[in-house]
Amino acid sequence: MSSDVRTIEWAGDGLRLLDQTLLPARVEYATVRDVDALVDAIRRLVVRGAPALGVAGAFGVAIVVRQAAREGWDDARRDAAIARVRAARPTAVNLAAGVDRVLPFIAEGVDAVVAEAQAVLDEDVRGNRAIGAFGADWILGRLGVDRPLRVLTHCNAGALATAGWGTALGVVRELHGRGRVELVYADETRPLLQGARLTAWELDQAGIPCVVQADAAAPSTILRGLADVAVIGADRIAANGDTANKIGSVGLALACAAAGIPLVVAAPWSTVDLAVPDGAAIPIEERPAEEVLAWGGARTAPGGVDAFNPAFDVTPARLVTALVTETGVLEVAAGTAPCRRARRRCRRE
Ligand code: MRU
Repeated sequence: MSSDVRTIEWAGDGLRLLDQTLLPARVEYATVRDVDALVDAIRRLVVRGAPALGVAGAFGVAIVVRQAAREGWDDARRDAAIARVRAARPTAVNLAAGVDRVLPFIAEGVDAVVAEAQAVLDEDVRGNRAIGAFGADWILGRLGVDRPLRVLTHCNAGALATAGWGTALGVVRELHGRGRVELVYADETRPLLQGARLTAWELDQAGIPCVVQADAAAPSTILRGLADVAVIGADRIAANGDTANKIGSVGLALACAAAGIPLVVAAPWSTVDLAVPDGAAIPIEERPAEEVLAWGGARTAPGGVDAFNPAFDVTPARLVTALVTETGVLEVAAGTAPCRRARRRCRRE
């Protein structure tokens, strides 16, 4: 993605969002200035991806504080509106964490909230650069080959899903910058097509060779030896390393384990939730049935049939070869309770 396209930024009186529901057909921005518009934008995936949701949550508090002042709300009404933002989507812990991080600044006024939210955004971009470098180093060291690599990814964990550069796609961008990407297999990511619409768009803009494949093709691509490594993002990582990411990720993980190639999860520490012991305790968002039962607005499944539409799945820690964060790489499958221990260590350093 060219550097002048911004996914999310504070516009002085509201939050300016690149509307991801319209990509790649149209590059349009929407500015949200009240809580209803923000919650709607988060639920419809105008803004999406765990780190970008964290930034939206942080600025969302500023939106609510401004609206409360404008409309003369009392504190209880303001806090209820903040709670709505915090709960707009349940799986990505970054959203709640972004809200919680700026709450202490409300007492100092809206400018202080905006400044802290901007810090969340800036840290995310910096962290993603570090994730990219750590991830590329680890992958090249682990694979130990001289040729450019074939990388498989799922959903969109790129600049669009973050404040810039991307996590999984940050690793891909870094590998590409070093001349080490032959091809990216981008899973299309049913049912909302974040891979086909967003990842392919970002990679195309960056001049990184990619093909889009149906999600169902991915395990076969891996087992046929066509990919060297799979790199994905995460929405919430439990203390034991179990990782929630877009539905379909666990199938990749199983295929990677069967084929003996690494599954790399690239995510900032803000996605690690040490309060959640394991994947069973991660809330999994279930989305509207129409996303699965219809195509282009026309019903494809027979009338009267309902859908099961979980937006995320959980990959057990034993299948996560490496977790790449902004402070380094944890070889998750090789240890137990890795996140809690590693977080304590890097806080001490
Ligand atoms: O439903 P989405 O599009 O918000 O899901 C996004 C993902 O699953 C991403 O892989 C994850 O948030 C990591 S983004 C860096």
